[in-house]
Amino acid sequence: MQKVLFVCLGNICRSPMAEYIFKDIVAKNGQEKNFYISSAATSTEEIGNDMHYGTKEKLLEHNIPFQKHRAKQLKKEDYDKYDYILGMDHWNLKNMLRILKSDPEDKVKLLLDYSDAPRDIADPWYTGGFDVTYSDVVEGCEAFLEYLKDKKKL
Ligand code: 4NP
Repeated sequence: MQKVLFVCLGNICRSPMAEYIFKDIVAKNGQEKNFYISSAATSTEEIGNDMHYGTKEKLLEHNIPFQKHRAKQLKKEDYDKYDYILGMDHWNLKNMLRILKSDPEDKVKLLLDYSDAPRDIADPWYTGGFDVTYSDVVEGCEAFLEYLKDKKKL
Protein backbone atom coordinates (compact mmCIF):
# COMPACT_ATOMS: atom_id res chain seq x y z
CA MET A 1 0.00 0.00 0.00
CA GLN A 2 1.36 3.39 -1.05
CA LYS A 3 0.04 6.32 0.95
CA VAL A 4 0.20 9.62 -0.92
CA LEU A 5 -0.61 13.11 0.37
CA PHE A 6 -0.78 16.04 -2.07
CA VAL A 7 -0.15 19.44 -0.49
CA CYS A 8 -0.68 23.06 -1.57
CA LEU A 9 -1.26 26.38 0.16
CA GLY A 10 -5.05 26.34 0.55
CA ASN A 11 -6.13 22.72 -0.24
CA ILE A 12 -8.96 24.03 -2.40
CA CYS A 13 -7.33 24.34 -5.87
CA ARG A 14 -4.19 22.37 -6.77
CA SER A 15 -3.85 19.60 -4.16
CA PRO A 16 -7.49 18.42 -4.31
CA MET A 17 -7.22 18.53 -8.11
CA ALA A 18 -4.14 16.28 -7.81
CA GLU A 19 -5.95 14.03 -5.30
CA TYR A 20 -8.91 13.37 -7.60
CA ILE A 21 -6.88 13.17 -10.82
CA PHE A 22 -4.46 10.69 -9.23
CA LYS A 23 -7.34 8.62 -7.78
CA ASP A 24 -8.84 8.48 -11.29
CA ILE A 25 -5.53 7.46 -12.94
CA VAL A 26 -4.96 4.83 -10.24
CA ALA A 27 -8.49 3.44 -10.72
CA LYS A 28 -8.04 3.31 -14.51
CA ASN A 29 -4.83 1.33 -13.91
CA GLY A 30 -6.68 -1.14 -11.64
CA GLN A 31 -4.48 -0.10 -8.71
CA GLU A 32 -7.10 1.25 -6.25
CA LYS A 33 -6.35 -1.41 -3.64
CA ASN A 34 -2.68 -0.41 -3.60
CA PHE A 35 -3.21 3.24 -2.65
CA TYR A 36 -4.46 5.58 0.05
CA ILE A 37 -4.63 9.11 -1.42
CA SER A 38 -5.50 12.42 0.22
CA SER A 39 -4.59 16.13 0.19
CA ALA A 40 -3.88 18.93 2.64
CA ALA A 41 -3.01 22.62 3.02
CA THR A 42 -0.01 24.34 4.53
CA SER A 43 -2.16 27.32 5.59
CA THR A 44 -5.27 27.56 7.77
CA GLU A 45 -7.02 29.99 5.36
CA GLU A 46 -9.53 27.59 3.81
CA ILE A 47 -9.89 24.86 6.45
CA GLY A 48 -13.26 23.14 6.12
CA ASN A 49 -14.00 24.71 2.75
CA ASP A 50 -14.98 22.88 -0.44
CA MET A 51 -12.89 22.98 -3.63
CA HIS A 52 -12.63 26.15 -5.70
CA TYR A 53 -15.22 26.19 -8.53
CA GLY A 54 -12.36 26.45 -11.06
CA THR A 55 -11.01 23.09 -9.88
CA LYS A 56 -14.46 21.48 -9.86
CA GLU A 57 -15.10 22.82 -13.36
CA LYS A 58 -11.93 21.14 -14.69
CA LEU A 59 -12.74 17.83 -12.97
CA LEU A 60 -16.30 17.87 -14.37
CA GLU A 61 -15.03 18.81 -17.85
CA HIS A 62 -12.74 15.75 -17.84
CA ASN A 63 -15.25 13.36 -16.19
CA ILE A 64 -13.06 12.89 -13.14
CA PRO A 65 -15.12 11.78 -10.13
CA PHE A 66 -14.83 13.69 -6.85
CA GLN A 67 -16.58 13.84 -3.50
CA LYS A 68 -17.53 16.78 -1.33
CA HIS A 69 -14.20 18.13 -0.23
CA ARG A 70 -13.32 19.70 3.11
CA ALA A 71 -9.94 21.41 3.20
CA LYS A 72 -7.66 20.28 6.02
CA GLN A 73 -4.22 21.36 7.19
CA LEU A 74 -1.06 19.23 7.02
CA LYS A 75 -0.12 17.93 10.49
CA LYS A 76 3.26 16.82 11.86
CA GLU A 77 1.78 13.32 12.45
CA ASP A 78 1.13 13.01 8.69
CA TYR A 79 4.84 12.36 8.22
CA ASP A 80 4.52 8.84 9.67
CA LYS A 81 1.13 8.22 8.06
CA TYR A 82 2.22 8.84 4.44
CA ASP A 83 4.95 7.45 2.14
CA TYR A 84 4.94 10.38 -0.30
CA ILE A 85 4.13 13.98 0.64
CA LEU A 86 4.03 15.95 -2.60
CA GLY A 87 3.91 19.74 -2.75
CA MET A 88 2.97 21.86 -5.74
CA ASP A 89 5.59 24.63 -5.50
CA HIS A 90 8.77 25.58 -3.66
CA TRP A 91 6.89 27.81 -1.25
CA ASN A 92 4.73 24.82 -0.28
CA LEU A 93 7.91 22.78 0.32
CA LYS A 94 9.24 25.41 2.70
CA ASN A 95 5.97 25.51 4.65
CA MET A 96 5.63 21.70 4.62
CA LEU A 97 9.06 21.36 6.23
CA ARG A 98 8.12 24.04 8.78
CA ILE A 99 5.15 21.86 9.84
CA LEU A 100 6.87 18.47 9.52
CA LYS A 101 10.16 19.74 11.07
CA SER A 102 12.39 17.38 9.07
CA ASP A 103 12.34 14.83 6.26
CA PRO A 104 14.65 11.98 7.34
CA GLU A 105 13.00 9.48 4.97
CA ASP A 106 13.05 11.76 1.90
CA LYS A 107 9.25 11.67 1.53
CA VAL A 108 8.80 15.36 0.72
CA LYS A 109 8.97 16.21 -3.01
CA LEU A 110 7.37 18.40 -5.63
CA LEU A 111 4.77 16.59 -7.76
CA LEU A 112 6.56 17.69 -10.93
CA ASP A 113 9.90 16.29 -9.64
CA TYR A 114 8.67 13.06 -11.27
CA SER A 115 8.20 14.65 -14.69
CA ASP A 116 10.88 15.16 -17.34
CA ALA A 117 10.64 18.89 -16.67
CA PRO A 118 10.64 19.43 -12.89
CA ARG A 119 9.05 22.77 -11.97
CA ASP A 120 6.49 24.49 -9.78
CA ILE A 121 2.76 24.27 -10.46
CA ALA A 122 1.56 27.88 -10.42
CA ASP A 123 -1.25 28.78 -8.04
CA PRO A 124 -4.50 29.28 -10.02
CA TRP A 125 -5.94 31.15 -7.00
CA TYR A 126 -3.70 33.98 -8.19
CA THR A 127 -3.26 33.21 -11.92
CA GLY A 128 -6.82 32.07 -12.73
CA GLY A 129 -5.12 29.59 -15.09
CA PHE A 130 -6.96 26.38 -14.19
CA ASP A 131 -6.24 24.89 -17.68
CA VAL A 132 -2.50 25.09 -17.05
CA THR A 133 -2.97 23.73 -13.52
CA TYR A 134 -4.94 20.80 -14.92
CA SER A 135 -2.34 19.84 -17.55
CA ASP A 136 0.56 20.27 -15.07
CA VAL A 137 -1.20 18.11 -12.47
CA VAL A 138 -2.00 15.38 -15.04
CA GLU A 139 1.64 15.42 -16.20
CA GLY A 140 2.86 15.06 -12.61
CA CYS A 141 0.38 12.35 -11.62
CA GLU A 142 1.08 10.24 -14.72
CA ALA A 143 4.85 10.60 -14.21
CA PHE A 144 4.52 9.71 -10.51
CA LEU A 145 2.59 6.51 -11.28
CA GLU A 146 5.21 5.55 -13.89
CA TYR A 147 7.94 6.20 -11.30
CA LEU A 148 6.23 3.84 -8.82
CA LYS A 149 5.86 1.17 -11.51
CA ASP A 150 9.53 1.54 -12.57
CA LYS A 151 10.67 1.29 -8.96
CA LYS A 152 8.53 -1.85 -8.53
CA LYS A 153 6.58 -0.20 -5.71
CA LEU A 154 3.27 -1.56 -7.03
P1 4NP B 1 -4.28 26.33 -3.62
O1 4NP B 1 -4.76 27.82 -3.93
O2 4NP B 1 -3.06 26.44 -2.72
O3 4NP B 1 -3.92 25.73 -4.94
O4 4NP B 1 -5.44 25.63 -2.95
C1 4NP B 1 -5.02 28.77 -2.92
C2 4NP B 1 -6.24 28.76 -2.28
C3 4NP B 1 -6.51 29.70 -1.29
C4 4NP B 1 -5.56 30.64 -0.95
C5 4NP B 1 -4.35 30.64 -1.58
C6 4NP B 1 -4.06 29.70 -2.57
N1 4NP B 1 -5.84 31.62 0.06
O5 4NP B 1 -4.99 32.48 0.29
O6 4NP B 1 -6.90 31.54 0.69
